Amino acid sequence: MLATLLLLAAAAALLVVGGLFVSGLVHHLRRARSEAARLRARRPLPLVVIARLEHGDDVFSVELEHAQKKRLPAFAPGQALTLLVPGTTLRRRYSLAAWEKRPRRYRLGIRREADGAASPRLYDHLQVGARIDALPPVGRFVLDPAHETLVLVGGGIGATPMLAMLDAVAARPGRRRVVFHHAARHPAELVDLDRLTALGARADWFDYRPIVSRPDANWRGAVGRLAAADLVAGLAEPACAHYYFCARETVMREWMDALAARGVPASHLHWESFGGAQNPDAAVYPVELDGVAREFAGEPSLLAAFEAWGVDLPAECRAGECGACRVRLVSGELADCQASHVTLPPGEFLACCKVPKSALVLARVP
Ligand SMILES: Cc1cc2nc3c(=O)[nH]c(=O)nc-3n(C[C@H](O)[C@H](O)[C@H](O)COP(=O)(O)OP(=O)(O)OC[C@H]3O[C@@H](n4cnc5c(N)ncnc54)[C@H](O)[C@@H]3O)c2cc1C
Ligand code: FES
Repeated sequence: MLATLLLLAAAAALLVVGGLFVSGLVHHLRRARSEAARLRARRPLPLVVIARLEHGDDVFSVELEHAQKKRLPAFAPGQALTLLVPGTTLRRRYSLAAWEKRPRRYRLGIRREADGAASPRLYDHLQVGARIDALPPVGRFVLDPAHETLVLVGGGIGATPMLAMLDAVAARPGRRRVVFHHAARHPAELVDLDRLTALGARADWFDYRPIVSRPDANWRGAVGRLAAADLVAGLAEPACAHYYFCARETVMREWMDALAARGVPASHLHWESFGGAQNPDAAVYPVELDGVAREFAGEPSLLAAFEAWGVDLPAECRAGECGACRVRLVSGELADCQASHVTLPPGEFLACCKVPKSALVLARVP
């Protein structure tokens, strides 16, 4: 009897130890798998340009495929690639401007900024046959498949994520209805104007509304600045629609405030900024980082100043999204130059979202 009890107790103990071992092993395997996925997501993809199209003076689009013809990572409509700008340590994000469930190629639309550090280099470099490395697609600004009435608003080059969202809806429109307000200064900047006009004419789920502020002699469409009243025009229930914006941050704020005043819930307003820090303060402030003192003189952000000084600070988005440009404030006062989406530990800030309001002493975050 005692022997049987001892045997049963030993078996139970074995079961408990075995269970603990298996659950520990499963936990360890899960962690290893998620760490491998994280590393994979950070590994640059070698890409090659297979097509290029000019859209007016400063805007061009390229199609890229894997340099070894391998499968490309899938992405959600609205996400962006991070290009490693050749010959520099700069990284810049570009929204994917077309969408497929299993992408064979990536499409980007890029605007060359006259005094930009990266886009003029990309404009020159990204010719057919050129190679470029990119971090796989990421981003929180993605189309929610549950949203039925969509109002997409793309200002200038901010139309790129909307083009991917449109592709995703076109693949399976279902009960969805899409209005796309495509605003630009010049007609030439309306990427895919002809294709979208044709789609608007043939698809009953799609209403295409381009508008330009500086028309040329051939332009027959709407002229002027897009107003909040235009965004709700023709909608049976504006408060039920979901609005996706990508344009200059100040203009988006105006539109969103006006829609909120018309009863559109904040949870229906989705937006992305391409960066574009604004600093109205032209005063000069001493800024010390890691014991080296320099003078900040009205640059758009502390990150822009670090880049101009040749200080190598990690940065991927320059729009308060990726959290890479964290810095620690040792002393001094800061002001906002653009909104941030990242929560940071006390004492840290994002260099792309702040400018000095006094002399600063800063330290790198290890
Ligand atoms: C999620 C995301 C998606 C994006 N998608 C796209 C896209 O699809 N297409 C696209 O074209 N862009 C996109 N962008 C923007 C892109 O990443 C770059 O920011 C853009 O190409 C400008 O980079 P740049 O280095 O050429 O210009 P920057 O060097 O950043 O300069 C931008 C402007 O700031 C001014 N400036 C810079 N430094 C100073 C200084 N020290 N003093 C005064 N002025 C200064 C420049 O004159 C210039 O006009 C996206 C950004 C994000 C975050
Ligand atoms: S560079 Fe991405 S948050 Fe500043």
